[in-house]
Amino acid sequence: MASKDKESKPSFSSFASSYKEMMKRPSFLLAFRFVVCVALCYLLWLRFLFYTFPPASTAVSFRTAKLSRPLAATCDPAIAPFYIHRLHPRFNSALVQHGLSCVTCCDVCPHVGHRGLGRPLLRLPADADLDPGLTSWYATHPHAAEVIFHARAERHPCRTADPAAAELFYVPFFAGLHAATNSRQQNHTRRDALAVDLAEHLASLPAFGRSGGRDHFLVVGRTSWDFMRDPDLLPEVANMTVLTVERRPGEGRNQFGIPYPSYFHPRTAEDVADWQAELRRFARTRSHLFAFVGGLRPGSDKAAVRAKVMAQCWKSKRCLPVDCNPTRRRCEDPDRVLDVMRRADFCLQPPGESLTRRSTFDAMLAGCIPVFFSEHSAYAQYEWYMPARPEDWSVQLKPTQWDHIEEELARIPKTVVEKMRETVIELIPNVTYAHPDSSATQLGFQDVVDTALIELTKRVRLNRESLKIL
Ligand SMILES: *[C@@H]1O[C@H](CO)[C@@H](O)[C@H](O)[C@H]1NC(C)=O
Ligand SMILES: *[C@@H]1O[C@H](CO)[C@@H](O)[C@H](O)[C@H]1NC(C)=O
Ligand SMILES: *[C@@H]1O[C@H](CO)[C@@H](O)[C@H](O)[C@H]1NC(C)=O
Repeated sequence: MASKDKESKPSFSSFASSYKEMMKRPSFLLAFRFVVCVALCYLLWLRFLFYTFPPASTAVSFRTAKLSRPLAATCDPAIAPFYIHRLHPRFNSALVQHGLSCVTCCDVCPHVGHRGLGRPLLRLPADADLDPGLTSWYATHPHAAEVIFHARAERHPCRTADPAAAELFYVPFFAGLHAATNSRQQNHTRRDALAVDLAEHLASLPAFGRSGGRDHFLVVGRTSWDFMRDPDLLPEVANMTVLTVERRPGEGRNQFGIPYPSYFHPRTAEDVADWQAELRRFARTRSHLFAFVGGLRPGSDKAAVRAKVMAQCWKSKRCLPVDCNPTRRRCEDPDRVLDVMRRADFCLQPPGESLTRRSTFDAMLAGCIPVFFSEHSAYAQYEWYMPARPEDWSVQLKPTQWDHIEEELARIPKTVVEKMRETVIELIPNVTYAHPDSSATQLGFQDVVDTALIELTKRVRLNRESLKIL
């Protein structure tokens, strides 16, 4: 018995102790798991917040602090030193903040966080590190050009802080955002009040008076803006140059077209070359002749051709359609849009509410040859950016061809298609807005902003020459 007791006691105690350990380990594990889970949830929450409501200013200053390498002091001699006028925030940053605070509506208040780039996308290339702060891909709003232009200009090596040393003057008024937030304003006095304020302010500046505003420019990222359309409304600023995503045909000697921003904002020429190489590698995965990403625009005369385009695309086995019916929101997913465009040779660009489309630049970014139905959709718009011969990079269908789009496109020889596609792929850097963080030394290509500054410089220098002669 005693020996049995002796034997059973240790066995009991060992059982007890091992039981205690068993009890302890899971609870420790449980606690550990709980902590890890809470930490993960917190991180996911932060990420969610970051993506949904990007902290425009804090994210920016953090990024700039991290990237505080010295700015390249080398300004391209083809670009004149330019001065950015300092304006009251109600002309720019307050308009951006207003857009950010209005989450529900997408068209009325463009989401232009991250200095206009929009929400970062964790997208290709697959081997890139997934730090959202380093991605080149963003869900950029079509009307964000004016905000991105400003962010690029702020860090541009040709920017000067001395108005006396400047040949060009940039007026950072976000006229498109202002128009967007005022689109429902019926009272014209109120609608135009900010523009009138700006005109008065500019007219009072000595730098503006020197040349009657001829060396001043403004960037507008929207098609519907009334500011300066009517020279009688604001004669003081009528001679300023306006860069806009859509010029009205036959109007405005001072208006020049700039591309809509798409989703790609590279920091280096290497980023661009990687993407171009990928497009060339996957050229054979283009399974369809043509694609259409868009929707019907009932009530718009310009968009009458859309019904024809959509009927033919939906019927043809060789067409990839994406219906941008607003209730389905399929076109708000950049990955989906680009992936469809990467699977077709041609991307149809019929006019909608306006003659131009952001989709043209999405197509080019995907190496898809744009097909136009009006010369005002691109040829008469983006002279600074596109090759002189439209047929090198695009197709224009005449009204007589609109009823048999598939036959017209299928008729183009394969070698010609390949050559056009290569030109489109080569044009990608030219129609891209580089990331505002990129430094001039690292960028290694001329993006939309550089080209605009070069062309503005030619204009202002020519102007000065002709004034000298007079
Ligand atoms: C438009 O707004 C201005 C300024 O707020 C006001 O004086 C004017 O009466 C308004 N006009 C109409 C037609 O409501
Ligand atoms: C704008 O240019 C026109 C034509 O050159 C000129 O008549 C007009 O006075 C200029 N306006 C200003 C404000 O300098
Ligand atoms: C793109 O722009 C560069 C200048 O930056 C120019 O030399 C080149 O010809 C352009 N590419 C095309 C395809 O037009």
